[in-house]
Amino acid sequence: MAAVDAGWTVIGVDNLVAKVSQINGGSSPIEDISDNQLRAAISNGTYSATSDFSTVSRASVVTICVPTPLDDNRDPDLTLLRSAAREIAPYISDETLVVSESTSYPGTLRDIIIPIVNELKPSGSDHVYFACAPERVNPGDANWNQKNTPRLVGAIDEESQIKALAFYKSICNSVVSVSTPEIAEAAKLLENTFRLVNIALINEFTQLCFASGINVHQVIEAASSKPYGFMPFTPGVGVGGHCIPVDPLYLTWWARQNGTKAAFVESADFINHEMPRYVAERALNLIDASIKTPNILILGIAYKPGIGDVRETPVSELRDHLIAKGANVAWHDPLVLVWEGSNSVDLDWNCDVAILATKQPGMDLDRLIARGIQILDCTNSLKGQAGVSSL
Ligand SMILES: NC(=O)c1ccc[n+]([C@@H]2O[C@H](COP(=O)([O-])OP(=O)(O)OC[C@H]3O[C@@H](n4cnc5c(N)ncnc54)[C@H](O)[C@@H]3O)[C@@H](O)[C@H]2O)c1
Repeated sequence: MAAVDAGWTVIGVDNLVAKVSQINGGSSPIEDISDNQLRAAISNGTYSATSDFSTVSRASVVTICVPTPLDDNRDPDLTLLRSAAREIAPYISDETLVVSESTSYPGTLRDIIIPIVNELKPSGSDHVYFACAPERVNPGDANWNQKNTPRLVGAIDEESQIKALAFYKSICNSVVSVSTPEIAEAAKLLENTFRLVNIALINEFTQLCFASGINVHQVIEAASSKPYGFMPFTPGVGVGGHCIPVDPLYLTWWARQNGTKAAFVESADFINHEMPRYVAERALNLIDASIKTPNILILGIAYKPGIGDVRETPVSELRDHLIAKGANVAWHDPLVLVWEGSNSVDLDWNCDVAILATKQPGMDLDRLIARGIQILDCTNSLKGQAGVSSL
């Protein structure tokens, strides 16, 4: 939509046929794009979706932005990226710019995408340009979007860089030129790893403070008065979504491939994965020991507020720990109606304690507080209210 706004005609190619039909029917699958915005672009012919990869032959710019998840061993899984490269390659016209926007480890563009495209591109497509411009979307963010978030661009040669800078300058207010694709790829991993380790630090710090009877939120507020060299992070159930818990493991894998070790990052990953167990214990300690099968209501299961995305949500591990300790667990989330085979329950569900994991808009927590339900608040948004303990 950012490219449409900049005057480009855009074709979205996706191998998920149902998603293509949904989009062409005017229903946006992304919270930050309204149906009206999508429909306007479809009806004036500047946007359409398709599963037909031959449409790539009409493009002067091709951006690859497919998921880059982890496999069962929690190692990078580039299956979708490789298959996207293989599927676009036979249709790439001469003078086309191919950009990798997917997050991955340094060398992905040069060592994986470029060889696939060069091997499978049509004869006559002698000049194909390649660059990397990692996505920096923050879903649900009212302030930062494609247009006003500076964009990193790193290409394999000068001609590619000129073309890539021109494209991203047309859709973003600010473009940051870096010297190689590997710098852009590594910068993306650094950005998300920075968040992972700082969240882990405050999650660990929270446990240290609680054990000594110190309110960690007052500590964070106090430290935040320092005008330089400090940035506040807040504790929570863990990290979720498909970026912060995933991308740093591309870094740890990449380190191992190079015969080194990202010990600090591995430790941060470990600490964050221990948080659901810690939160479960804190909640269970609020319940009278005579209740052997407590009812626990988890409030908000999406990985962050304002969206219905449950990918990698740490609430999954929280629920499993609570069940393993013998609790009856239900959940409520106004933005998620069905999750892993169960439905969101009403706030009137009879519980011994509630855990506020994600503060979703539209959750009437006053109702719970008025009923005298104890709440373990992992978001520090209900502070000072009766029956509420903050993480
Ligand atoms: N969404 C974000 O907030 C965000 C932010 C920063 C970076 N990223 C990165 O951007 C990349 C894409 O993330 P996303 O959230 O947009 O992914 P997504 O899960 O929304 O998937 C994008 C689409 O790719 C399609 N797809 C998968 N394989 C395909 C193939 N071979 N050919 C064509 N289409 C295919 C899927 O059907 C899906 O509709 C990832 O590398 C992610 O780490 C995403």
